[in-house]
Amino acid sequence: MEWKKEYRLGIHEIDEQHKVLVECISDIERAVAQYDRQSADAAIVRMADLAQAHFTLEECLMRILDYPGLAEHADHHKQFSVHLETLQEPFVTTDVFRERIEFLHQWWDTHVQKHDKSYALHLLKHTALGKS
Ligand SMILES: [Fe+2]
Ligand SMILES: [Fe+2]
Repeated sequence: MEWKKEYRLGIHEIDEQHKVLVECISDIERAVAQYDRQSADAAIVRMADLAQAHFTLEECLMRILDYPGLAEHADHHKQFSVHLETLQEPFVTTDVFRERIEFLHQWWDTHVQKHDKSYALHLLKHTALGKS
């Protein structure tokens, strides 16, 4: 997975966090392609920590600014966190593991471009966050 301009939301700190998380997914995919389960596991643990901090920040911003889609957005985050936990289960076959990584990739792609973009527009409209 690579960073692409469509992921840019225009809120510097969020964009920087998204870049790091895209790197994490890329690290996981590289490790899987090399059949290096140990490196994949390490990258998944790192991603889980960073994603948790990122989701907390986003949800705080939405709460502060009365974003109407907060509950639905938080549900999406929860879905992702649960999926990350399934990736940390031992004794999963390689095929299932690969399918789950693919889901992770697709989820991220859609979430940032659709759901994050939506709350970012709300934030940019109601704050000076996009101005630097
Ligand atoms: Fe995000
Ligand atoms: Fe989000």
